[in-house]
Amino acid sequence: MTNAIRMDKFGGPEVLQYREVEVGKPGPGQVRVAHTAIGLNMIDTYFRSGLYPLALPSGLGSEAAGVVVATGEGVSGIETGQRVAYASPAPLDGYAEERLIDARWLTVLPDQIDDETGAAMMLKGLTSWYLLKHSYRVKACDWILLYAAAGGVGLIAAQWANQLRARVIGVVGTEKKRGIALAHGCEHVLLANDDIVGTVRELTHGEGVAAVYDSVGRETFYQSLDCLRRHGVMVSFGNASGAVEPFAPLELAKRGSLYVTRPTLWDFVGERADLERGSAELIEAVTSKLIRIEIRQRYPLAEAAAAQIDLEQRVTTGSTVLLP
Ligand SMILES: NC(=O)c1ccc[n+]([C@@H]2O[C@H](COP(=O)([O-])OP(=O)(O)OC[C@H]3O[C@@H](n4cnc5c(N)ncnc54)[C@H](OP(=O)(O)O)[C@@H]3O)[C@@H](O)[C@H]2O)c1
Repeated sequence: MTNAIRMDKFGGPEVLQYREVEVGKPGPGQVRVAHTAIGLNMIDTYFRSGLYPLALPSGLGSEAAGVVVATGEGVSGIETGQRVAYASPAPLDGYAEERLIDARWLTVLPDQIDDETGAAMMLKGLTSWYLLKHSYRVKACDWILLYAAAGGVGLIAAQWANQLRARVIGVVGTEKKRGIALAHGCEHVLLANDDIVGTVRELTHGEGVAAVYDSVGRETFYQSLDCLRRHGVMVSFGNASGAVEPFAPLELAKRGSLYVTRPTLWDFVGERADLERGSAELIEAVTSKLIRIEIRQRYPLAEAAAAQIDLEQRVTTGSTVLLP
């Protein structure tokens, strides 16, 4: 038996229960991983609340690091005793001391990356990778607008965009977060209740930004469109304030023939070769210190509900890990 967070119904953080579960032996293609650190992500709260569909009862959690303790038939390239990390879509069993997982999601961690860093960087780092290199491929001197710039994805994406020589305008909720975002790659940082559109136009000499990376969703959608330059790209990648409502395509014509994309990580790492490419670039960026993965909060796994409350109440900055 092992301990894990399970949920029997959708709702607030109180639906998360820490209890004993049976894990079993790995089947074909699977490995059993003993977690040493688990990444906390906003997506975990969408599954918990029922915003994203999920069959119940269920576990939760899509990102972690640990040690391989058993391998199933047909697994190659992964051995017992290896340190690994992953972001994986389903089943959601990340919030657990041990779990079974398909080996195809695993990345072996190099010695230079510790387990907590591995647990904090796979989902948020690979997301930053595809946002900046695929959803809209940022170029040197591009202005971009990045919401939640002091958050988990935000701190990684801001540093990476800065390394790509983009000019990053961050948006954050508090003065304290402004200082954090400015120290991690943002050239300017606006407060969420500032005149975002007016200031972005001023900073970009009236032109607007090449891309907006909007993880806030419902509250900021039209404001984000208004910040874009002609042919600019709106990357709507999260729902922190709720899901974006349906909108009329004519809104894009009115504002300069804009593009909108609503991406999800799993479409960029769904093929093993893509995952390996993204992981290699992420590991290189971290080990060469182009990007610092900042773990700014730690909670015992059993207190996952408290961690989610802090994440949803906008108290956390950078990455957060749960410790089994
Ligand atoms: N599509 C994908 O593939 C993908 C993958 C990973 C993450 N995401 C999205 O990326 C975003 C960041 O994820 P994360 O796990 O790194 O979280 P995070 O940024 O550490 O935390 C969420 C942040 O969102 C901001 N926020 C703005 N309005 C909010 C509201 N009404 N309620 C709560 N927070 C609000 C807060 O920052 P301020 O106080 O500074 O505004 C808060 O700290 C999330 O929206 C997540 O869904 C998408």
